[in-house]
Parts: sequence; structure tokens; C-alpha cells
Amino acid sequence: MESLNTIPFLSSQKLKTLWLVAVVVGVIGVAEGRNGRNWYESLYSGREYSAISNNRAHSASIKDFGGVGDGKTLNTKAFREAMNNLSKYSAHGGAKLIVPAGKWLTGSFNLTSHFTLFLHKDAVLLASQDINTWPLIPPLPSYGQGRDTSGGRCISLIFGSNLVDVVITGNNGTIDGQGALWWQQFRSKKLKYTRPYLIEIMHSDQIQISNLTLLNSPSWNVHPVYSSNIIIQGLTILAPVKSANTDGINPDSCTNVRLEDNYIVAGDDCVAVKSGWDQYGIKYGKPTKQLIIKRLTCISPYSAAIALGSEMSGGIEDVRASDITAVHTESGVRIKSAIGRGGYVKNIYVKGLRAHTMKWVFLMSGDYGDHPDNHFDPKAFPVVAGINFRDVVADNVTMAGKMEGISGHPYTGVCMANVTIGMAKNGKKPAWNCSNIQGVASGVVPPPCNLLHSQGPVKPGMCDLPPKKLEIHNMEELEFQN
Ligand SMILES: *[C@@H]1O[C@H](CO)[C@@H](O)[C@H](O)[C@H]1NC(C)=O
Ligand SMILES: *[C@@H]1O[C@H](CO)[C@@H](O)[C@H](O)[C@H]1NC(C)=O
Ligand SMILES: *[C@@H]1O[C@H](CO)[C@@H](O)[C@H](O)[C@H]1NC(C)=O
Ligand SMILES: *[C@@H]1O[C@H](CO)[C@@H](O)[C@H](O)[C@H]1NC(C)=O
Ligand SMILES: *[C@@H]1O[C@H](CO)[C@@H](O)[C@H](O)[C@H]1NC(C)=O
Ligand SMILES: *[C@@H]1O[C@H](CO)[C@@H](O)[C@H](O)[C@H]1NC(C)=O
Ligand SMILES: *[C@@H]1O[C@H](CO)[C@@H](O)[C@H](O)[C@H]1NC(C)=O
Repeated sequence: MESLNTIPFLSSQKLKTLWLVAVVVGVIGVAEGRNGRNWYESLYSGREYSAISNNRAHSASIKDFGGVGDGKTLNTKAFREAMNNLSKYSAHGGAKLIVPAGKWLTGSFNLTSHFTLFLHKDAVLLASQDINTWPLIPPLPSYGQGRDTSGGRCISLIFGSNLVDVVITGNNGTIDGQGALWWQQFRSKKLKYTRPYLIEIMHSDQIQISNLTLLNSPSWNVHPVYSSNIIIQGLTILAPVKSANTDGINPDSCTNVRLEDNYIVAGDDCVAVKSGWDQYGIKYGKPTKQLIIKRLTCISPYSAAIALGSEMSGGIEDVRASDITAVHTESGVRIKSAIGRGGYVKNIYVKGLRAHTMKWVFLMSGDYGDHPDNHFDPKAFPVVAGINFRDVVADNVTMAGKMEGISGHPYTGVCMANVTIGMAKNGKKPAWNCSNIQGVASGVVPPPCNLLHSQGPVKPGMCDLPPKKLEIHNMEELEFQN
């Protein structure tokens, strides 16, 4: 928080981006606490603040710190020294670290504020394979334990906490997690600690991750958590479709997030929206809200294009997904929850989903199970309400929908309009199986289950995105100069 008065105010004409980011977090907190207003409403109170900047006063190359890009030399020390050195510029115009062409083997390093990590198009960061020396950090408070094991978590390859104004980008340079060893150790239950992610940013504000190729993450690829004002765009994320839990992008207890133009081939959900796990997530109480997902392309034969949950105990609210292409996935949009999760998934909008080859277009489960421990509250029922789908076209589908709420706690307000599903030759009959859900449907083919009450022809606006755009929608993209 102390660094917030050092945000570089626009000095350069070239800096096209003006993030109209609200008053600095502290003030927002006060405004929210006092007036119950949203931060973006305070935008219109007349003050404009610049935030993310790609123009940094200082710039250095990893070579300046003794880095060697031969694919063999371990550069952990060089990266850590670079970060140490460049953090001194946070309050003096910020810094950029350039990673030139080459193969840069490295262990984990931490980012700093007002900072850009820039990868040349032929730069490849290779994650160290020395998994026993990987530094550990505590479990996330909203999870109570690591995701793989009850112990600590291996820190992510690129990590940041309590930061403001950070850009990780490049000319489509590569970050390769070399995850095969981790997947194998995970599968044979040899790991004592939770696997690292490729990029994790915690408790931070104004983050952009763009124009990179991420390969073979040991586990999740990009994990923003307890953070706000995040743009993730133009990522190519690739992992073998049978690799263990290589989720693409996991916004977790984050506010104001925009994911756009991402292409993901993954061994788990391409986008997995989360907010903490059972009693730990309920207690921590931090939702993911105001999330935009645009122009996502997903290939993930064993998972969903977009999953909400299963960790959703802090709540998930106001998610707007549009222009989604699922080429071969298990499901299109999936809601995963369970008794014990508590929390909510509400006001979800999906408009424009094109899908080819999948088991279920619509998948909702209320019995996902998978608890951190046995101390979850058996009366903590998730609330799932207001789940909207419009303009969906799918073909070669095995089953149109498998939609199961929780007995006595149905999923309500499901709305489907203009949905055309072409069933596979060996498609299941009936095409829908619904239980403990309530909702309406218009123009849905094949005709949906009886729990979705038919509303006649499709009306304009039905099940549609809300007309008022989210503020994060308007934030301009950065224009990069090398
Ligand atoms: C680190 O920062 C100092 C300024 O504090 C600078 O003089 C020095 O050259 C930097 N080191 C490298 C290797 O760039
Ligand atoms: C990176 O941050 C973590 C968590 O704050 C800390 O435990 C670790 O020591 C830091 N690593 C370095 C190299 O500064
Ligand atoms: C992304 O990288 C590509 C390939 O190097 C480059 O042509 C393009 O200008 C970059 N886009 C942005 C927005 O930086
Ligand atoms: C980035 O590289 C990936 C993998 O080589 C490629 O598929 C993708 O089209 C590239 N993206 C851009 C923006 O150049
Ligand atoms: C239904 O969806 C299709 C394709 O997604 C779109 O072209 C068409 O305009 C939509 N029809 C209505 C009535 O919204
Ligand atoms: C249809 O889906 C099945 C798997 O269910 C797949 O084997 C087949 O190749 C798909 N057909 C086409 C035309 O994509
Ligand atoms: C519907 O799903 C329930 C619960 O999974 C299952 O027991 C039942 O057999 C299914 N019905 C059909 C017709 O597939």
C-alpha cells in the first residue's frame, strides 16, 4: 500500500493506455466500507488515475546480472539479483527486465511493483527440474491446505505478492514449466507438497499478463488470487491433454478481471473460476466477481472450457463469457459444487458458445465432493442462481445437458435461449438429464428437460448479457514498445 503514491503518472505521450483505475486501493476500501459503493462508481466522481504502465524509467537485461541463456546454466541467482536490483526503481519510474533470445533455465523468482518482465520472441524461460529444492510457501488461507497435499505449497515459477502495476509480456516469448516430472510424481503420489504454478500473483492490483506462450506447467498455469484489475490476453497455453491439473487460467477470489483472446489446450479446465475451499473459503469470504471472458478458444477433451468451482466457497458473481469456442472438450460451461462448499455462483452469463465434439454442453453437479478435510459443514449448501446461456451452437454432442442441483437446494434461475445442439450419431437418449434445477428455456433444440419451462419463441434480451458494461470492459489494451 505504501507504494501507491508512487504510481507513475502519465509522463509520456506515447503511453496510450490510461487505466482509469479507481482511486487507489486503500481509498476504495474506505469508500466501499463507508458508502457501500463499488470502486468503479467512484471512477465517475471526477478523478482519473493512471495505473499500469509499460514505460519504465529504467531497463535492464538479464545478461546484466550474469544470466546465461544456454539452456543449461541455472539462472535463479541472476533473476533474483535482477529483481532485487530493479525493485529499487519501483518508487522511481519503475523498471523493465528484458529476457533476450535464448534458453534461460531458472528456479522461482519474485516480481516487484511498477515492473515489466519482457520476453523476446525467441526467449524461453525453462523451469528448473530440481524439484526437491523448490522453495515452499504456506497454503492459501481460503484453501486451508495445499491443493495436492495437506502440507505447504511449492512457490510458483514466477511469483508476486502485495504488488501494484505489474506487466508480464513479450513478443510471444515462452515460459516452459517442464512439468512432466511433476505430473509423474503427482500421479505416483510421491509429492510431499503442492505443485508450483507457472505464474501466481497474490494480493495485488493492476496486473497484465499478455502475449506469451506458456508450456507444460507443473499444475495450474496462471493463478491470480486475492487481486484486482487484471487483464490476461493473447496467451497461448499448451499442455498435453492428459497432463494432471494443468488448468489454463484460474481467477481465484479476484475482482475486475478480463481474459481475452486466449488459446488454451489443457489437461484440465481451460478457465477455472474459483474462490476458496469449504470452511476455509467460507471463512475467508472473498468472492470472484466482475469477470469478463472473451474470445476464448479451448481444447480439453477431459474437462470444461469454463468451469465455475469446484472451489467456490467465497462466492462467484457476475461472470460474463462471450464468443467462446470449444473445439473438443468434455463440457462447455460447467458448474462444480458440493455440500460443504457454501458460497454461491450467481449471475453468470454466457453468450455465443460454439462447440464441436463434446460429451455435455451443459454440465452442473452438486455432488462434486473433493473436500480439504472432514471438518466441512454438512449444512453449508452452495447457492447456484441466475445461470444464463444465449446463442449456443454445438455439434457432435453425446448428451446435451446433465444438470444436477442438490436435493432440497435446487439450482435456480437457469435460463437458456437460442441453443442448437447437433447430437452425435451415438448420442444419448434422452438428450437431457436434469434434477433439482429450476429455470426457463426458449428456442432450445433438442427440446430440454421439463424442469426448464418452455417460454415460446426467443425474445430479444432473454438470458442475455446485462446491458450495462463492466468497467474492466473499457480498459484499453496496452500498446507495447520494445
Ligand atoms: C544495480 O543497481 C545499482 C543502483 O542502485 C546500479 O548502480 C547497478 O549497476 C545495478 N546492477 C546491475 C548489475 O545492473
Ligand atoms: C518470494 O516471496 C515468498 C513469499 O513472500 C518468500 O517466502 C520468498 O522468500 C521470496 N523469495 C525471494 C527469492 O525473495
Ligand atoms: C505479440 O507478439 C507478436 C509476435 O512477436 C508481435 O508481432 C505482436 O506485436 C505482439 N503484440 C503485442 C500487443 O505486443
Ligand atoms: C504464439 O506462439 C504460439 C506457439 O508457437 C502460436 O501458436 C501463436 O499463434 C503465437 N501467437 C502470436 C500472437 O504470435
Ligand atoms: C441464435 O444464435 C445464432 C448463432 O449463435 C445467431 O446467428 C442468431 O442470430 C441467434 N438468433 C437469435 C434470435 O438471437
Ligand atoms: C465426434 O465425436 C467423437 C467422440 O465422441 C469423435 O470420435 C469423432 O471424431 C467426432 N466426429 C467429428 C466429425 O468430429
Ligand atoms: C439421470 O441421472 C441420474 C443421476 O446421475 C441417474 O441415476 C439416471 O440414471 C439418469 N437418467 C437417465 C435417463 O440417464
